[in-house]
Amino acid sequence: MCGIVGYVGTRQAAPIILDGLKQLEYRGYDSAGLAVLSNGQINIRRDVGKLHNLINLYNSDPVSGSIGIGHTRWATHGAPSQRNAHPHVSDGGNVVVVQNGIVENFVALKEELMAEGVTFKSETDTEVIVNLIERHLASDVSLEEAVRQTLKRLKGANVIVAMNLNEPNRIVAARMGNAGGVTVGIGEGEMFLASDMPAILEHTRQVVFLDAGWMTIITQNDYVVKTFEGKVVKPQVHHIAWDKVTAEKGEYRHFMQKEIHEQVRSITDTIGGRIDFETGSVILNDLNLTPEAAKKIEKIVIVACGTAAHAGMVGKYMIEALARIPVEVDIASEFRYRDPIINDKTVVIAISQSGETADTLAAMEEARTKGATLWSIVNAIGSQAMRVAHGCITMQSGPEIGVASTKAFTAPLVDLYLLAMKLGELRGVLDSKRLKALANDLAHLPDLVGRTLDREPEVEVIARQLRETSHCLYLGRGINMPIAYEGALKLKEISYIHAEGYPAGEMKHGPIALIDRAMPVLVLAPKDQWYEKMLSQVEQAKARGGIVVAVATDGDTLIKEKADYVLYVPPSSWLLNPILIVLPLQMLSYHIAVLRGCDVDQPRNLAKSVTVE
Ligand code: AGP
Repeated sequence: MCGIVGYVGTRQAAPIILDGLKQLEYRGYDSAGLAVLSNGQINIRRDVGKLHNLINLYNSDPVSGSIGIGHTRWATHGAPSQRNAHPHVSDGGNVVVVQNGIVENFVALKEELMAEGVTFKSETDTEVIVNLIERHLASDVSLEEAVRQTLKRLKGANVIVAMNLNEPNRIVAARMGNAGGVTVGIGEGEMFLASDMPAILEHTRQVVFLDAGWMTIITQNDYVVKTFEGKVVKPQVHHIAWDKVTAEKGEYRHFMQKEIHEQVRSITDTIGGRIDFETGSVILNDLNLTPEAAKKIEKIVIVACGTAAHAGMVGKYMIEALARIPVEVDIASEFRYRDPIINDKTVVIAISQSGETADTLAAMEEARTKGATLWSIVNAIGSQAMRVAHGCITMQSGPEIGVASTKAFTAPLVDLYLLAMKLGELRGVLDSKRLKALANDLAHLPDLVGRTLDREPEVEVIARQLRETSHCLYLGRGINMPIAYEGALKLKEISYIHAEGYPAGEMKHGPIALIDRAMPVLVLAPKDQWYEKMLSQVEQAKARGGIVVAVATDGDTLIKEKADYVLYVPPSSWLLNPILIVLPLQMLSYHIAVLRGCDVDQPRNLAKSVTVE
C-alpha cells in the first residue's frame, strides 16, 4: 500500500516527509524511507518495519536539505528488508526514485540493464526504473525527458517520483495507468507531492490531481503538468475543505467511487510479496501449508455472506480448476444450521471484509467444533475472523467505508487465485510452466483493472439510459455467474432497483417469461469458454423485446451488432475475467444510484458490518 510524499521549498524536507508518511500509515506498509538532496549528495535513510524505526534512524542521523521524497513500501518484488525499501538510487548514483505499482516487464528490463553492466542492489522492480532514467540522462537530456523516455519502456500501472542530483531544484512525478493517485499540493514558496491528500493537508489546501498519462515537475515556486507526450495541461485547482471526511474522499464524490478506483492499488497490494514472478511460486506463509497438508485436503467449504459469498463462488472455479479439490460454497447463515458434513480432511474458508459478521463467525465455530481446518480471508486486521482461524490471508484493501463492497470483493478474488495456485503447486497439479503463466497473467491484472476503470464515462452514458428502470436482470455463466449475482446485489443495495442475478442456462426454465421492454438484461459475455452460449442469451433476450447491455471483451464486434449497448473490458485469462467484468457493473450501479439521488455510501436499512444474526 505504498505511500508517497515529496517536498521542495525552503523548510527542512525530512520532517515534512516523515509527518506526511505518518498520515499514510493507515494504508499498511512493511518498510519506509526518504531521500534528501543536499551538498551535492543524495542522502538516504530507510529501514524495515514501522515508521518509528525510520524516525529513530533519522533522529540519530539527521539529514538536512529542502528537497526530498519519502515512501512507505508494501513489498511486491523482494521481501521487506532495508535494501528493498525505497528510495532506490541508480547504479551511477545520480538518480533516486520511489515507486508505487508493478513493472510487469521488469524481468526483461533487468536482464537488459544487467547485460549493459548495471549492478542491482535490491530485488525490487523499482531499481529497473531508476537505472533506465539514469541511462537516458546519459544522453544529456533533462530529468523530465529521461522519465518520459523511461515511461515508454515500462509496462504496467505505476506512479514514479524521481530526483536527479544534477537538477537539485525539482522533483518529477508521473502517473502511468491507475496505480494510485498523485496529488500536487500548492504552497507559498513550496510545493508538495503525495499519493493521498491527508499527507499534505496540514501544509496546503490547494491541490491538483494528476490523471493517468500525466506527469508533473515541481519546483519551489512552480508546478507544471504535462501529458506523457509533453503537452502542457491546466488541471483544475481544488480547494479542499477542512473536514476530514471531504479530505479523505479526495477527488471523488463518494467513498464508493473512491473505493472503486482504489482497486488497482488494492489488487497490487494483495498480490504484493506473495508471488515470485520469476518462478511463479506463491508465498502464503500464514497458512503453514506443506505438500502433505495440501494433499490431505479432500474438500474445501467456503462460508460467507453477501458480496463475500459471491467472491467464494468465483473461488470455487479457481480452486477446482487449478488445484482439483472439490469446493462447496455455503451461505454462512445456512451452513451454521444444517449440520454440515465436514471432518479433519475438510478445509473451511471464511471470507469476510469486516471479519465480524455474526453469521460467518458462527459458521466458523461450527466448522471448528467439527474438526475442520479453518482459514479466513479477511480485510480488517485483528478482527475475530482473523483471530479464530488456524490461518489467514489478508485482503490488503485498506479501510472500506462505502456500505456497498467493491474493493473488498476483488481483493479476495486475488487471494483465492493465489491460494488455488499454491494448492495446485503443492498437490503437483501445476507444473512450473503453468505456474509461470498464471503468475504472468496476474502481473498484468492491475494495469487491466486501471484500463477498465478509465472507461467510467462510457458507463455513465448507459447509467443515464437505465436510471428510470424498476427491474434489471443480470445473466452470467461459469465463473461469471457469481458476477451476475454481485452486479445485481450492487444495483439493488444502492439504487433500490429490483435486480436479479441468474445463471444464464436457467433462463429457459422460468425467468425468460419476465423479459420485455421494461426489463433490461445485463449479459456478461467475455471471450471465454461460455461465450457462444452467452451470445445466444443476447439473441433470446432481444427476440423478446428486452434491452440488452452486454459486457464483452475488447474487439468483439459481433456482440455490438446484437446488443443495445456494450461495455468493453480488456482481454484477460478466463480465471481473472471476473475481476474485470465486475468493474463496469460496480460503476454502473454507482452512477445509476447517483442519478436517482440515493445515499450511495450509506444506503437505507444497511450496515457495513452485520454483527447480529
Ligand atoms: C456488500 O455490498 C454488502 N455490504 C454485504 O453483502 C456484505 O458483503 C456482507 O454483509 C458480508 O460482510 P463481510 O464481508 O464484512 O462479512
